[in-house]
Amino acid sequence: MKVYGGRRGLASLLLALSTGLATVGYGALSITPAEAAVTPVPFSSVVPAVAVSTPTSGVTYGIGAATTIYTEPGSTAAASVGGYLAGLLRPSTGYPLPVTAASGSSPSDGISLLLSGAPSSAGNEGYQMDVTADAIVIRANRPAGLFAGVQTLRQLLPAAAESTTAQPGPWPVAGGRIVDYPRFAYRGAMLDVARHFFPVSTVERYIDEIALYKINHLHLHLSDDQGWRIAVNSWPDLAVHGGSTAVGGGAGGYYTQADYQQIVDHAASRHITIVPEIDMPGHTNAALASYAELNCNGVAPPLYTGTDVGFSSLCTSKELTYTFIDQVVGELAALTPGPYVHIGGDEASSTQPADYAAFINRVQQIVAAHGKTVVGWHDIVNATPLPSTVAQFWGTTSRNAAVTSAAQRGTKIIMSPANLTYLDMKYNSRTTLGQNWAAYIDVKNAYGWNPGAYLSGVGESSVLGVEAPLWTETLKTLPDLEYMAFPRLPAIAELGWSPYSTHDWKAFGQRLGAQGPRWRVMGLNYYRSTQVTWPAGS
Ligand code: ACM
Repeated sequence: MKVYGGRRGLASLLLALSTGLATVGYGALSITPAEAAVTPVPFSSVVPAVAVSTPTSGVTYGIGAATTIYTEPGSTAAASVGGYLAGLLRPSTGYPLPVTAASGSSPSDGISLLLSGAPSSAGNEGYQMDVTADAIVIRANRPAGLFAGVQTLRQLLPAAAESTTAQPGPWPVAGGRIVDYPRFAYRGAMLDVARHFFPVSTVERYIDEIALYKINHLHLHLSDDQGWRIAVNSWPDLAVHGGSTAVGGGAGGYYTQADYQQIVDHAASRHITIVPEIDMPGHTNAALASYAELNCNGVAPPLYTGTDVGFSSLCTSKELTYTFIDQVVGELAALTPGPYVHIGGDEASSTQPADYAAFINRVQQIVAAHGKTVVGWHDIVNATPLPSTVAQFWGTTSRNAAVTSAAQRGTKIIMSPANLTYLDMKYNSRTTLGQNWAAYIDVKNAYGWNPGAYLSGVGESSVLGVEAPLWTETLKTLPDLEYMAFPRLPAIAELGWSPYSTHDWKAFGQRLGAQGPRWRVMGLNYYRSTQVTWPAGS
């Protein structure tokens, strides 16, 4: 059946033109004339910048009341990406957008999500998108590529498409071809749920927000001095006692294993892998307070609600410490489908260097025995990284001899320079949230570096990817998190996804500004950096 989505789109476009330019109020948020603009969003507005694009001028596809979403026959993963797209667009368009199996590999109408015919350059996470007047066809080699293509399609629609209530449209998509794929395999965000605890719903919302920018890993900092946030059946007091407070003395909280699984499943539905972190041997006061026997002196310290670092250590000389780690990592590994377990390893200044190295080496073996790959903060290069171990660089300068020599011996590096990627750093001296020990970081700084050529002696082939950590000593609510993450997280996401040949601050600033109306419609609390020109109404 051929459905003239394109023509229906044109009809609703003409209707919108004839109904004029007054602000139209639908639901909680009114849509400004700029947002109802009929000029389709150009390919150059997508964040992260797409790898290759060829617009076809004068051609648009219009999503209309008769648009069907077709998905690869026999693929439940493709069907669920189709369901996700329909779920996003049904509320705002008011259209039924049925999701059904495609009947062939050359669709002539609707929006198709196909696992055939993608170029090999699309790899595992890329896609090709063709937009004609009659159809949108997204082709990928893997479901993750279809999901990435859907994020691009979302951004090619007017901001009003993000509304949860029916909007007048029209819903044009610019014609042409995009072939797009990531520069780095690992594109991460980190959320510290230890200093302040965040409910599952907040983590799910953050997952949804980072997915829009093609982030594919969420690292959860699940334990620290101030709180232990994951239930461990073999050591129940970790969560019950160790999770009972937070920075500043609040009520804290923890994820049950079912909660954690819910987060893992939600992330998987957004093609995001959870990387759980249990920080050790330092940053462990919450554990040490929960079990006296984990302390070298057998005495449990009180719970801690301040913000100092470097004062706690697991007892590296006790055999029980390794039984504890084996059981904790065992339970966490069983709940975690992704390949990584992050063991922290940072700021262990209460552990002697030789004890630290022996400890990290033993913990790496424990993680490996549970079938997982170790990630650690870059301090772990002072031990002997396993060939598969990944080090996460968090320094504040572009030289680190120990990290460079580890990289030269084959250790892969995740780049999180604190002075460039730490989303809890203040934008400037007037920012009320956040800290400034690493730097003030406005958007231009967050964007203005090259992960593949930043750290002296650590070239592109040693870099697994980038990650933007969000520490929460000063952050308590979802709006706090959003304010610090946006608009810098999309900058780091673009460094992780887009070919460096697209790197251009001026063009990025424009792309980023174009996200403002979208964030406003989404109810996302972003920082209106003066370095970016935000369109009227955003
Ligand atoms: C860190 O910021 N201590 C990894």
